[in-house]
Amino acid sequence: MEKDNRANFGSKLGIILATAGSAVGLGNIWRFPYMTGDNGGAAFIFVYIMCVFLLGIPCIVNEFIIGRYSASNTARAYRKLSNGTPWAIIGYIGVLTGFLVTSYYSVVSGWCLQYIYASAAGHLKGDPQFFASYFADFEKDPIKPVIWAVVILVITHLIIIRGVKEGIEKASKALMPALFVILIILVVSACMLPNAWEGIEFLFKPDFSKVSKDLFLGALGQAFFSLSIGMGCLCTFASYFTKDTDLTNSAVQISVIDTVVAILAGLLIFPAAFSIGVSPDSGPSLIFITLPNVFEQAFSSVPIIGYIVAISFYILLSLAALTSLISLHEVSTAFLHEEMNINRKTAATIVTVICSVIAALCSLSLSDWDAISIGGKPLFDILDYLTGQILLPVGGFLTCLFVGWYLPKKIVRDEYTNYGSMRGKFFNIYLSCVKYLCPTLILLIFLHQIGVI
Ligand code: PFF
Repeated sequence: MEKDNRANFGSKLGIILATAGSAVGLGNIWRFPYMTGDNGGAAFIFVYIMCVFLLGIPCIVNEFIIGRYSASNTARAYRKLSNGTPWAIIGYIGVLTGFLVTSYYSVVSGWCLQYIYASAAGHLKGDPQFFASYFADFEKDPIKPVIWAVVILVITHLIIIRGVKEGIEKASKALMPALFVILIILVVSACMLPNAWEGIEFLFKPDFSKVSKDLFLGALGQAFFSLSIGMGCLCTFASYFTKDTDLTNSAVQISVIDTVVAILAGLLIFPAAFSIGVSPDSGPSLIFITLPNVFEQAFSSVPIIGYIVAISFYILLSLAALTSLISLHEVSTAFLHEEMNINRKTAATIVTVICSVIAALCSLSLSDWDAISIGGKPLFDILDYLTGQILLPVGGFLTCLFVGWYLPKKIVRDEYTNYGSMRGKFFNIYLSCVKYLCPTLILLIFLHQIGVI
């Protein structure tokens, strides 16, 4: 283990908040609530929690073991452990995935910043038609979304260049509690609206008739993305963990925080939407078209509350996006810093500049300049598909095989038990999951996502 001269997180709380910050992101707020509502409510939540425990936690622990043992960026971590065999490629896939996701994730994060501005300036007022055309016009604008994407990348950059302890850890300790406070206040306001109960019921009433293959595979895919598995983020952060960090316990805590935030997001969105009789949809249209309309109408009797709720909601989204972006940016920064032997600031600057260029191209691919498309699909959609549906599952699948079948069991056990200082009660269960269950489940998600099953 090479721990000397390498940055570490300064406290257990810092480790949990930074890693949970990576996990808690746009996926929790715009995708989870919709998937729950659409897939049988509590039945989906139950299956999702099973997926988090059976697939998510073992996969998180895998990345933690590789990262902490190697104390290096993701590419070097896998390279060190693979002793000249082709397994090293998994690390490079992780870095590439993290890099590509940084670029397109910053575009959507930039939209959140625009909506903070628009709601604060009082621009978000009108009928449902207005909200749809406001978003369409904004998305097609060749300049504004690019500027906002660069702004959020620069904010991320300013945090990253301060280093692991002073930058990432301090920012997470400030941003994550802020995110929780805003979320709780918004949930309470939404649940006090008339008819809110219908939304709560919709979210939680188990409808077992909806339990299907799609529900299982959807829940698995959502757990994977939401927990930031397969992108090098968890491995990179684990390389900054201290030797006494309890890896399994940390993985459980992070998964619980991520799941609680996702459920709370549902308790914000459904009661608000049902109070005005709107059925929430998913993705960009939920966040940028349906919800501004919901906030305006739901609080129409006291408009100032609607105004504050809308601004707070977009601040919440931006905080969630920012903490995820920090972890994504760090994957590429640590890679360049260590592999090219350049200082951290220069490495971060290169990442920020290149990501800004790709983000600009992604954003422009959605505008009227549809020249930036491949096979008729905008670059934005291609990156989304390539990373989410292909690279992520492939990286996660190979990592399970690598840890379960290739790595010497002694290394895995030593890291799992902190070199024998803990009992490692669940080690055998963990290892069986990683060897058999997780690769099988990931393969199923992958085949489902590419439409084979
Ligand atoms: N987990 C984040 C979300 O739910 O939005 C997305 C994400 C962030 C995925 C960082 C992967 C990652 F490395």
